[in-house]
Amino acid sequence: MPDAPLFEIDDLHASTPATDAAAGFEILRGVSLTLNTGEIHALIGPTGSGKSTLAAVLAGSPYYEVTSGRIRFRGDDITDWSPDVRAKAGLFLAFQHPEETAGVSLLNFLHQAVTARNGVEVSVSEVRLSLLAWMEKLQIEPALLERHLNGAFSAGEMQRNELLQMALLDPDMVILEEPAAGLDNETVRAVAAGLQTIRAESPALGALAITSDRRLPEQLQPDHCHVLAEGRIVASAGPEPVAGPATDDKEGLT
Ligand SMILES: Nc1ncnc2c1ncn2[C@@H]1O[C@H](COP(=O)(O)OP(=O)(O)O)[C@@H](O)[C@H]1O
Ligand SMILES: [Mg+2]
Repeated sequence: MPDAPLFEIDDLHASTPATDAAAGFEILRGVSLTLNTGEIHALIGPTGSGKSTLAAVLAGSPYYEVTSGRIRFRGDDITDWSPDVRAKAGLFLAFQHPEETAGVSLLNFLHQAVTARNGVEVSVSEVRLSLLAWMEKLQIEPALLERHLNGAFSAGEMQRNELLQMALLDPDMVILEEPAAGLDNETVRAVAAGLQTIRAESPALGALAITSDRRLPEQLQPDHCHVLAEGRIVASAGPEPVAGPATDDKEGLT
C-alpha cells in the first residue's frame, strides 16, 4: 500500500493477562496516532500513564494482551506479528531493554544483528567498516568497538550503542522508549543530535520518542507531540510541546 501512512496506531486497547483468579487490567484504553514517512513524533506522559506498556505492545511483547485496535506499518496489519518479524520488516525498538549480552563485543553483537536484519551473512570486516564510518559521523570513540557489552556500560555509552545499532540496521521506523533516562543534559543533546544525523542520511525514517522527560522533545523538535494520560492520548499538537498534564519534568535545557 504505497499511500498508507508509515505507522498507524488505531484505537489500541491492551491489558495485563487475565488469570483464573482475576480479569486482566486494562492499561491502554484507546491509543490512536498516525505517523507519516520522515516524521518524528514525541509522546510524553507521566509515570503510570502507559508509556512502557505501549512501547512493549508496539514491539510485539507477548506479555500484554491486545484486546482491540490495530497497529499498522506501511499499511500492513502487524498487530499479531512476532517481535522478530517486526524487526526484520524494519521496525526498530531502541532503548527499551538496554540488554546485557555479557562477553559479546559491540562489533560481534552488531554483526549478528545486521546479518539477521539483512537475512544474509554480512562479513565482520564489512560491519567494522560501516561501524567505523558511523562512529565518526556520530562522534563516538572507536574504543567502544572492542568493548564488551556488559553492565559496565554507562547510561551514555548504552545510548551511543543504541544509536549505532539504529544506524547500522537502517530501519524504516524507530520507537525510542525513555531515551533520555539517566542522562545528563549534554548526553540528551548528543542523543538528539545523533538521531538527527541518522535522519539526515535516511530522510524517510519515522521516529516515535516515548518519554516522561521533556528535555528530549525540546531537543528533537518533533513534527507532532502527543500527551498520554491514563492509557489515552489526551492532547496532540504540532511542533510545540503541549501544555498537558504534568510530566516527570526535569529542568529544561537552557
Ligand atoms: N504487569 C502489570 N501488571 C499490573 N499492572 C501493570 C503492569 N504493567 C503496568 N501496570 C500498570 O499500568 C499502568 C501503566 O504502566 P506503565 O506502562 O509502566 O506506565 P509508564 O511507563 O508510563 O510509567 C501503571 O499504573 C502500572 O502500575
Ligand atoms: Mg515506563
